[in-house]
Amino acid sequence: MSTILVTGAAGLLGRFVVRDLLKHGHVVRGLDRRRGDDAIEWFVGDVTSPELVAKAIAGADAVMHIAAIPNIWSGDGQTIMRVNLLGTYTVLEAAEAAGVRRMVFCSSDSVAGYTVREGRMLPPRYAPLDLGHPLQATDPYAVSKVAGEDLVRAFALRGMSAVALRTVFVAYPEMAGEIVARARDPGNYRGPMVGGPSSAGGGPLHHHIDPRDLARAFRLALDMKMEPGAFERFYLSAQVTLSPEPTLERLRRLHGDSVEIRNPAVYAKQPFAPLYDLTHAADRLGFVAEYDQRHLLAGLPAFS
Ligand SMILES: NC(=O)c1ccc[n+]([C@@H]2O[C@H](COP(=O)([O-])OP(=O)(O)OC[C@H]3O[C@@H](n4cnc5c(N)ncnc54)[C@H](O)[C@@H]3O)[C@@H](O)[C@H]2O)c1
Repeated sequence: MSTILVTGAAGLLGRFVVRDLLKHGHVVRGLDRRRGDDAIEWFVGDVTSPELVAKAIAGADAVMHIAAIPNIWSGDGQTIMRVNLLGTYTVLEAAEAAGVRRMVFCSSDSVAGYTVREGRMLPPRYAPLDLGHPLQATDPYAVSKVAGEDLVRAFALRGMSAVALRTVFVAYPEMAGEIVARARDPGNYRGPMVGGPSSAGGGPLHHHIDPRDLARAFRLALDMKMEPGAFERFYLSAQVTLSPEPTLERLRRLHGDSVEIRNPAVYAKQPFAPLYDLTHAADRLGFVAEYDQRHLLAGLPAFS
């Protein structure tokens, strides 16, 4: 049993992470700009406040840093940089001062640069896209996650052990309507159209992950054996996309032959496998997604 601070604990993902940790016997504290529903100790305020963050971290064994402006539609560039970068620095500085041993940072697959059209989205160079692929972030949110990972890595080098989870679009239950609305009419979808908290995302390939799986990945990152000073990163996704077309077909239609297919066997075995390489997460983190949301699309014209 450990004491874990979860930042962004009142948010869509935070709630799943908090409940998963509680279920597994951990003592959980939450920091967020608003109080959440869970019966845990709350620290309410801004994640860039050194005083608040120091109070929340004192005595914690680990920190799951999830609080952020979660996409380019939720804040302008200035706000994204302030919350995502200064917030991450503030949490790291306080965690180091408090002797926290493990930091789990909620990153994003947007670091690879293949998620939103705003900015200059560059096609991937090869598939499956693994940790060796260049980071091609171009929009403020994606850049904030690249730089956030750099901050985390710097503090890890100073003695903490840290993990960055590069998750794809999270298919929360609240997003089901948006996912279906996009699948019905992808050409005209300009979400959020049916009351979802944000647009159905996941980039051109419509990647997704179930929040129950993602919460488990956070716990696995907490428990993973690591030496002090180590920093590790993982791409995380469901085993299939939400796209109507198989992955290689879609990549070819969108980018011709420019994307090198390095391991066609992955897509022969599962035609809807994501762009991202999932073998590293399976081998090292012990994470293989158990859920996917393709069932939401059954019976829709493009999916029959
Ligand atoms: N939703 C996705 O598809 C997705 C995909 C990849 C990565 N992520 C990352 O997942 C994490 C969680 O996002 P989410 O989907 O739960 O979104 P969310 O907006 O529900 O959660 C973010 C939480 O951070 C809190 N927060 C924001 N600014 C804050 C501040 N200045 N001080 C204190 N708290 C603040 C919000 O109140 C909120 O509860 C984020 O780091 C996001 O970048 C999300």
